[in-house]
Amino acid sequence: GVDVKMPLKLLLYLITTILLSPDVRSYDDKTVVIKELVVPDNPSDGDDVTLTCRFELTGYNHRLYTVNWWRGKDQFYTYKGTNYDHKHAYTFRGIQVKKEESTDESVVLKNVSEDTSGVFKCEVMGEGPSFRTAVETKTMTVIVPPKQVEIHSWANPDPPTYRAGETIQINCTARGTKPRAHITWKINGRPVRDLNVVRYADFEDHRGRVTSTLGLRWMAPEYFHNNLARVTCTATVGDHSNAASKDIYLDPASSAAFNHPYGSAGHHLPTTWTIVSLTFFHVVRSLP
Ligand SMILES: *[C@@H]1O[C@H](CO)[C@@H](O)[C@H](O)[C@H]1NC(C)=O
Ligand SMILES: *[C@@H]1O[C@H](CO)[C@@H](O)[C@H](O)[C@H]1NC(C)=O
Repeated sequence: GVDVKMPLKLLLYLITTILLSPDVRSYDDKTVVIKELVVPDNPSDGDDVTLTCRFELTGYNHRLYTVNWWRGKDQFYTYKGTNYDHKHAYTFRGIQVKKEESTDESVVLKNVSEDTSGVFKCEVMGEGPSFRTAVETKTMTVIVPPKQVEIHSWANPDPPTYRAGETIQINCTARGTKPRAHITWKINGRPVRDLNVVRYADFEDHRGRVTSTLGLRWMAPEYFHNNLARVTCTATVGDHSNAASKDIYLDPASSAAFNHPYGSAGHHLPTTWTIVSLTFFHVVRSLP
């Protein structure tokens, strides 16, 4: 391909040279354009991140002088087009460049963290004397996705079994996210009604990482299907999600009693007994 293209380029240049007088063919035909700046919006804590700045230089013999990368005021990478020693990387808080994997168009950041976040700038400069320059910026915010999502219920034993008329109370907790996680509940794959959701205050640690809890509360036998309610909670931060599920069972005998018009009064006693026995189990379990 090169052998064919080069004489063609030369020919085009010669035609251009003949058509245009030397004083018209000045710096004006030289341009630097950044065609695309690719900076991920929300990479995760611990990722290696590739930032790409696609550029184009036009004009006769217009060559690259430098590509500079900045995070705010920190210049962390320079690619020199003219030098033999092309790549130069500098370390800042939250910024470590993988020099071997970086090129003229892209720079690879190793193991990003919350400290890496900021406004990233790519600056491309053509050779002198015109030093045409193009600049693009993009914000990157490193997130800490939910590493752990837990479902807790007071029910013992596991798996929990409930009787019709009993209230099911469970919590979903997403620990140590940044920013706070958005939590949703589903039962048997369907969203729950808002009145069944219990909101609790977030807890934020000294590093600004948030632990969020969302409760779910409803009375059996609602939401059960074939005596089963599979509860699923999903915690989302940015475009990262993590889910947890738990199967909850309905005592079929209690369901029959609950539905019977004369049997409904009788369910109070078993419910009380269940609560007492659950409390008992809880106490036993809590002992060292
Ligand atoms: C990534 O950086 C964190 C600190 O931000 C450090 O604790 C961890 O060990 C690093 N991981 C790797 C694979 O270098
Ligand atoms: C749910 O979490 C809240 C707040 O942390 C707590 O007060 C409540 O006891 C928890 N409920 C269950 C069922 O674990």
